[in-house]
Amino acid sequence: MRIIRRPIIGTGWKMNHLAADARIYADELLEQLSQVQVSGIDIFVLPPFTALHAAAAAFADSPVAIGAQNMHWAESGAWTGEISASMLLEAGCTYVELAHAERLTHFGETYEKVRLKVEAALAAGLTPILCLGETMQDKELGRSDEVLRWQLVTALSGLAPADIARVVLAYEPRWAIGQSQSADPEYVTKRHNNMRDFLSERFGSDAAMATRIIYGGSVTIDTAPVLAACENVDGLFVGRQAWRGGDFASVVKIAAEIFANKE
Ligand code: PGA
Repeated sequence: MRIIRRPIIGTGWKMNHLAADARIYADELLEQLSQVQVSGIDIFVLPPFTALHAAAAAFADSPVAIGAQNMHWAESGAWTGEISASMLLEAGCTYVELAHAERLTHFGETYEKVRLKVEAALAAGLTPILCLGETMQDKELGRSDEVLRWQLVTALSGLAPADIARVVLAYEPRWAIGQSQSADPEYVTKRHNNMRDFLSERFGSDAAMATRIIYGGSVTIDTAPVLAACENVDGLFVGRQAWRGGDFASVVKIAAEIFANKE
């Protein structure tokens, strides 16, 4: 059966690049993408907050959408240092990344709070990119799937099945982020298959079949093709390898070709 889910490839800049760098990045990326067919995939770039306006301008009328790396669940109020969904929309965002491992590890973010953010993002019309992933200890104890299920239930509880499909799930094993190697393809396939089955059990097969699950964690130009080819992998989420526009373009080109031919 041919995959009906639209492939999606993106990158988060983390705490890198100033506003002025957005234009250079966009020029490099768009120049290369103009030479290939990318109309069949979604592409996103997640700059830091301070570069969002510049990135929105640089990527205007292009196949690349932008998003933020976090947001608050409230619409407004006394939340010093925080950013709301409407502020992100105003800055030109289509996407918002939630629950990245670095936010969980360093900023005490929890999936209970992330659930509020998912809801607020959807209500505002943003597409949440919900990160999920087990620690090395979870993996060693053989409880990766159990942890992923708990994260899914906690972050998505209360959502209607139609809303589940509006969330992009980013499987990012926490032990594979910022490493010299990504998780191996067999391991990734198992987790993605099991997540899809679990979504089906919990939210129904329509929601499960329509929801995109992408892989992130030390993706490189070399590993992108084999990871993109894995069953139930609907896209890639790239970190360091995509911090230059030209390099991200190389990953997008390679992966887009794999997805275009994937059955
Ligand atoms: P990495 O980052 O590709 O540099 O490991 C991935 C991520 O944190 O999403």
